[in-house]
Amino acid sequence: MKRKWWQDAIIYQLYLRSFKDSNHDGIGDFQGVISKLDYFKDLGVNAIWISPHYESPMDDNGYDISDFYRVSKDYGTIEDVKELLQKAHQLDIKILFDLVLNHTSDEHSWFEAAKDPNHPNHQKYHDYYIWQPPKYDEHGNKVMPTQWRSWFGGPVWEYNEPTNEYYLHIFSKKMPDLNWRNEDMKRDLKAMTKWWIDLGVDGFRVDASNHLEKDWTFPEGHPGYEYFSSIPKHHEYLEEMGVEVFYPNDIMTMGEAGGASKEEAIKYCGFENKEFDMLIQFGHCWADCDWHNQITPGKWAKGTIDVKHIKNSFNHWFEMLKGQGWNIIYWHNHDQPRVISHYGNDSMYHDQSGKMLAYTLYFMPGTPIVYQGEEIGMTNVDYENLDDFRDVEVFTEYDNFMKLGASHEVAMQALRDRARDNARSPFQWDDSLHAGFSNVTPWMNTVKNYHDINLAKQKEDEHSIFNTYKKIFQYRKMDDISSGTITFIDIENPDTYCYKNETTHAIYLVVANFREREIDVTLPIDVKDYECFMSNYTDRPLMTQMHLKPYEAIVYKIKK
Ligand code: GLC
Ligand code: CA
Repeated sequence: MKRKWWQDAIIYQLYLRSFKDSNHDGIGDFQGVISKLDYFKDLGVNAIWISPHYESPMDDNGYDISDFYRVSKDYGTIEDVKELLQKAHQLDIKILFDLVLNHTSDEHSWFEAAKDPNHPNHQKYHDYYIWQPPKYDEHGNKVMPTQWRSWFGGPVWEYNEPTNEYYLHIFSKKMPDLNWRNEDMKRDLKAMTKWWIDLGVDGFRVDASNHLEKDWTFPEGHPGYEYFSSIPKHHEYLEEMGVEVFYPNDIMTMGEAGGASKEEAIKYCGFENKEFDMLIQFGHCWADCDWHNQITPGKWAKGTIDVKHIKNSFNHWFEMLKGQGWNIIYWHNHDQPRVISHYGNDSMYHDQSGKMLAYTLYFMPGTPIVYQGEEIGMTNVDYENLDDFRDVEVFTEYDNFMKLGASHEVAMQALRDRARDNARSPFQWDDSLHAGFSNVTPWMNTVKNYHDINLAKQKEDEHSIFNTYKKIFQYRKMDDISSGTITFIDIENPDTYCYKNETTHAIYLVVANFREREIDVTLPIDVKDYECFMSNYTDRPLMTQMHLKPYEAIVYKIKK
């Protein structure tokens, strides 16, 4: 296959609402991004994936779209979008938008017609969504069609009085799921996608892409995820989008889908297939859940990090796609806690663990996605009140924890550890008021540590986390680290993260301690011709037996 631009790209995931506010309303916007385009050049990033910018009541920060063709007034105008595309392209930076095909907002005109039998377009749009009649219990009381649970907690069904039906929503109740079996609906979504392509966008991240098909026999299940996730037929829909819209227009795509088998992975992003170019998968995420916790269950309970699992997951993906597809590497996104708080240590070892996480991830092959703020080691939020949080998921889950017997403090700690809001607080530009994000109180509070952790400060320090990212990104390009061949060393070791990545010019050897305590590591490597390329304590010689400090990590560059 001819080499594509995205194989050499370093992608920055930009959370628009929290990046930079230009017009003093406390909300990040397009002009804010335009004013910072030089920043991406400086960091060495050449593609930006921007979170949903469409018109939306913002129940789920823009993933609930009420008009696909309009820019949210929070973020600017279509003219701003055109200006961004033009200025970014001048700087050789590609722009990727978030494409939400699984659902709309309940305030979208389609749904307004769908739910109202008196609406002139009711007939047509009712079938754009997924409806089921009520069931009745032995007392004749209405009950939901199934007990399926939404990804945000709570039922997937919401009752609609005027039609005496329930509609399906696998996320919030303000996000009804679209019916991908409806040909008109698909045609409308394809036309919409093409419209943004014609405007000049370079690619898309396709939201919730493995949920498009549902089991229309609606079997009983609790939570029932298998009935609305990864049902084989969704591949047909994606291929249709690929063949008709993405590939003929040479648009780059990355799908979002969890839990793919090898066969599925190849379907999604095999070089020969026409669904996506790359896949955002989640195998390495949430490798520290305490599955026994009954009070804040699932992802909400923090346990010990399973380092073996993280390494094995990445390795599994490298193996699966070897020669047949292209990997994405990333630590976290806007749906997860900050990686430094999650897999590192954001207090005593902020600097060391931040760099350890950079070395371990960014010397691996594949196309990296760096998440806004990661490059300066931004941490989880420090919020003390429930109403400091913003995410729709937080409030349903808080009620769940209370029902399960959590105290307020236990519930708040779970939120500060695990909520999606952790990754969404305003970018910490400098130590001025509101971290230089805005002149007015931001839509969501800044984290107080911005006086200490901010870009301006890190730019000054050549050894900062920021300058570490910058240096790694330069070498990624120079030495084509993305195309390297990776071999993990002692992958079953529970504490270390060690591997070699063989590139055309050199072999990068990463030796890292993922733990907060000192450990010993054995390296079956005997080379003389190497340099100590980077280290997060002090440079030191490569030896077969090494004693590593907490989070100590060293990168050696071995001559070929
Ligand atoms: C994806 C997004 C998430 C959003 C959901 C519904 O998982 O990453 O932020 O809430 O889809 O659109
Ligand atoms: Ca603004």
